[in-house]
Amino acid sequence: MRDLILDLDTGVDDSIALAYAALSPEVNLLGVTGTFGNVTTDAGARNALAVLEMMGRTDVPVFEGAYHSLDTESFSPHDVSIRIHGSNGTGNVEFPAAKRPVEKESAVDFLIRMMRSNENLTIVTTGPSTNLASVLLKAPDLSSWKGKVVIMGGALTVRGNVSHFAEANISQDSEAAKMVFESGLDVTMIGLDVTMRSRLRRSDADEWRSTGTKAGKDFAAMLEHYIDNTIGGDDTYVHDPSAVICAIHPEYFRLLDLPMTVELYGPDRGRTIGDELRILEKEPKTRAAVDVDSSRVEAELRIIADYFRSI
Ligand code: RIB
Ligand code: CA
Repeated sequence: MRDLILDLDTGVDDSIALAYAALSPEVNLLGVTGTFGNVTTDAGARNALAVLEMMGRTDVPVFEGAYHSLDTESFSPHDVSIRIHGSNGTGNVEFPAAKRPVEKESAVDFLIRMMRSNENLTIVTTGPSTNLASVLLKAPDLSSWKGKVVIMGGALTVRGNVSHFAEANISQDSEAAKMVFESGLDVTMIGLDVTMRSRLRRSDADEWRSTGTKAGKDFAAMLEHYIDNTIGGDDTYVHDPSAVICAIHPEYFRLLDLPMTVELYGPDRGRTIGDELRILEKEPKTRAAVDVDSSRVEAELRIIADYFRSI
């Protein structure tokens, strides 16, 4: 059983990652912190509350975090995010609104409080790294925190998905991601290198729908929207759920120890890359996943169908 906090910009694949974490018997889900990205922070937090309610997990608190990147003053979702995740973040499927509100405490204060009291905690981020960078700015001593961070973001051995070099989550706040990678925190990067090797299929949507449950039908329609607007064939990538699965089952992934950084200047702004200035470090605190046993990742996600069948 692993203590987890998920830091989400709750769009489609974040919702699936959250469902997985909420249902896994191997996860003790302590909270969800929300950030901007696929949607605005408040919309994402509403989605997280709705998904938790659909999964029967009204015990998990949801906190709102950063509303924009470190180097901007405001945020509105990009056209490509609206196309892929729908204007509401859940593929334009209206989930039943949750009956409870977000917590009053800010995501950053919640993270600081939990990090100070728990070094066996893993924080999984599946959006921009802004909340975690804000933690480091507000409580710099937490750079020596002994817990783990798993980031869905970046691309080391393959091209980016918003530019030749940059992946979406890193691109949304490259300064924050650089700060986190270079902080001294224990960080595992789950980038496009591995998330594009695993697949969710139309047959998964068919199975969810065939359970006849409202939650199963809503999740099926959401996944179909995502498939239509990403690869457009029979399947799609497993970005955010891969990071949660790696937090519990790192043995499914091949991890390359590497002092990581993020390029901030030039055409490769947003590129995640080894830092040549620290390349001789004996025990780097960061690593990047470069391969995955995709059949194990895909098998993990079957707990979602099992849950829809059980309700
Ligand atoms: O590049 C994929 C990532 O960008 C995922 O986290 C997706 O949800 C979007 O935020
Ligand atoms: Ca995401």
